[in-house]
Amino acid sequence: NWEMSDFIEQEITRIRKLVGDKAQVIGAVSGGVDSTVAAKLMTEAIGDRFHAVHIDNGLMRLNESQKVKVTLKEHLGINLTVIDGTNIFLERLEGVTEPEKKRKIIGETFIDLFEEEAIRIEKEAENTPNAGKVSWFLQGTLYPDVIESLSFKGPSATIKTHHNVGGLPKASISFFHYFPSDGVKRQLVADRSTSCFDTRMMDGQGLRLLEPLRELFKDEVRDLGRRLKIHEDLVNRHPFPGPGLGVRILGECTPERIKIAREADNIFISMIKEAKIYDKISQAYAGLDTSKAVGVMGDTRVYGYIIILRAVKTSDFMSAEPYEFPFDLLKAMARRIVNEVDGVSRVTYDLSSKPPGTIELE
Ligand code: XMP
Repeated sequence: NWEMSDFIEQEITRIRKLVGDKAQVIGAVSGGVDSTVAAKLMTEAIGDRFHAVHIDNGLMRLNESQKVKVTLKEHLGINLTVIDGTNIFLERLEGVTEPEKKRKIIGETFIDLFEEEAIRIEKEAENTPNAGKVSWFLQGTLYPDVIESLSFKGPSATIKTHHNVGGLPKASISFFHYFPSDGVKRQLVADRSTSCFDTRMMDGQGLRLLEPLRELFKDEVRDLGRRLKIHEDLVNRHPFPGPGLGVRILGECTPERIKIAREADNIFISMIKEAKIYDKISQAYAGLDTSKAVGVMGDTRVYGYIIILRAVKTSDFMSAEPYEFPFDLLKAMARRIVNEVDGVSRVTYDLSSKPPGTIELE
């Protein structure tokens, strides 16, 4: 008889037993539901001996890292450090246009900054009476990720979906996801550098993996989130990829392009929310095409970027269909984006299904 309220109690007891009364735990939080729920659970279990780290990679959405800080630190009482990595990420991304190279740079830079922070926390802990070493790493792995890691053989591998963790081997081995999964990342496990957590840090520090959500499905994590008093907006949030706007801007990510994509995305998503259809859509965003098209402003011809709106419906993120907006709403969205975002001359709506398209642009 699977009861979520029992789960919370049991899991807190299990975490306390595993970690003991001195050791410290570190974990990355993206602001998504999985990492937030995992972090809140840890905080309930061991308080400030859990250290959450959020890295702003400069490719987050409008004010997103600021919101993560307010929600996790102030509302949920999580011991959180926010690191602003914008400059270093964008410096390393300068001139880089190739999608997988962008992913790789973002992934590696993330690890560099996270490692630095882990070392800082470790040093600080040494000076705290009664506190032990940082010896655990929190991961918001969900049950579908476990299944995927065990059965992954390629993009077409069959995924087993029955709920029998008990019968599986101890699985905290091969799936050091770069970010706790916000979406389902089946095809990412083996072939996308950013979805693999480099083992450098694990080996160097001998961190053990702690995965309190590894027996849960997404809807169960949402239920858990509500019980832990996490705000409905966060609980129901669409997934957001680890590389952020980096996979939504075609080509080089310059500060100007990031600013434009952010503003357009903000208008698009707020209009979706105002129309009360956010929960009917699985994932939506405004991306940016870096070639320019002509537009007329007053009496002059201007060249501006093309914004690509994308909204899909999917149940498993393996296949997806474009969301069917009322056409008037779509036109109103396009009008506002062209009028309000400097540097945009056109807005298009991406009608591709997945496959052959993907959800992200890159
Ligand atoms: P695609 O674009 O492959 O996306 O159809 C499927 C799901 O995965 C997310 N996604 C990523 N998540 N790192 C992530 O953490 C990535 O590099 C990445 N690429 C895609 C995407 O947002 C969607 O939910």
